[in-house]
Amino acid sequence: MMTAHHSPLPAPLSSLTIHRILLTGARGQLGWELRRTLACLGEVVALDSGTMNLADAAVVRQQVRDIAPTIIVNPAAYTAVDKAEREPEAAHMVNTIAPGILAEEAARLDALLVHYSTDYVFDGSGTAPWREDDACGPLNVYGTTKLEGERAIQAAGCRHLIFRTSWVYGTRGSNFLLTMRRLLRERPELKIVADQIGAPTWSRDLAEATAQVLSQLVSPARDASQAEPWGIYHMTNAGETSWHGFAEAIQALDESDEMDASVHLIPIPSSEYPTPAKRPLNSRLDNGKLERVFGLRMQDWQGALALCLGRC
Ligand SMILES: NC(=O)c1ccc[n+]([C@@H]2O[C@H](COP(=O)([O-])OP(=O)(O)OC[C@H]3O[C@@H](n4cnc5c(N)ncnc54)[C@H](OP(=O)(O)O)[C@@H]3O)[C@@H](O)[C@H]2O)c1
Repeated sequence: MMTAHHSPLPAPLSSLTIHRILLTGARGQLGWELRRTLACLGEVVALDSGTMNLADAAVVRQQVRDIAPTIIVNPAAYTAVDKAEREPEAAHMVNTIAPGILAEEAARLDALLVHYSTDYVFDGSGTAPWREDDACGPLNVYGTTKLEGERAIQAAGCRHLIFRTSWVYGTRGSNFLLTMRRLLRERPELKIVADQIGAPTWSRDLAEATAQVLSQLVSPARDASQAEPWGIYHMTNAGETSWHGFAEAIQALDESDEMDASVHLIPIPSSEYPTPAKRPLNSRLDNGKLERVFGLRMQDWQGALALCLGRC
């Protein structure tokens, strides 16, 4: 994963460089938040699917060359997990081919690539939190294409940080929080899966943690003798719950007037909620490496949810 030819503090990450940061997927949940948090690190060139179509390999390659970034941040992805089962090629283009091209161009420019991946690279067995070097075994097309994207980045030999996260939500886009807030106003009762366990993660916390990592890397205080940090990291809010537990917390914390606190939330097993894509039961990710290498400890998911709901 590491390349030998890079110096410990490579020139493109020097604090003396004015960084040009190419941000993909700037309209997505995470991309939207990154647009703000990355702004303190340099000039952000924010692109969305209308201005950079990641399904068009040749265009992506040319645009990266034209922009010549020092840092590429890629939160864009084909994230429609169930739809990916019937559109594997579209998911493959965006989640595997495009990150590979971004990585090849990053290597060519000596730029850093920051990419995001998922708990769905794991098969969900056991109950222990997954560590970065645990064996992967995705259960669905989305997870497979994301895992292949990680491998394409590693194979390209660029400096890279891959942040695997889980159950992302925020105040915009399509996510469990916003779906629950709507359904809790519409239905007398809701059946929610209670045997998939993971960590709901606020998109803003991910964006802020990303910016903190990058600011450490460009800091003049960074010790040039420190080991190169490139590789995979798990990055989620702390703690764990089920989708049912997440829904209960949303119901308890959402104090808006139209909210009906009497809606009955019924826990069900995954087997009673069949979906085209199979989901892992154990989605716990161990964030220990992020803390050891960058000293970052993510806040717990309940605190993050409360802060996020305060902004809804
Ligand atoms: N959401 C989750 O629960 C979750 C869980 C684990 C990991 N992750 C990972 O975390 C990262 C961020 O996820 P997110 O929740 O912020 O995703 P999101 O809200 O679904 O946003 C994804 C973005 O990707 C862009 N995109 C899709 N196809 C594209 C294409 N062909 N060309 C250019 N852009 C394209 C979309 O652009 P437009 O808006 O312009 O269409 C969208 O803005 C992704 O890598 C995802 O795999 C997410």
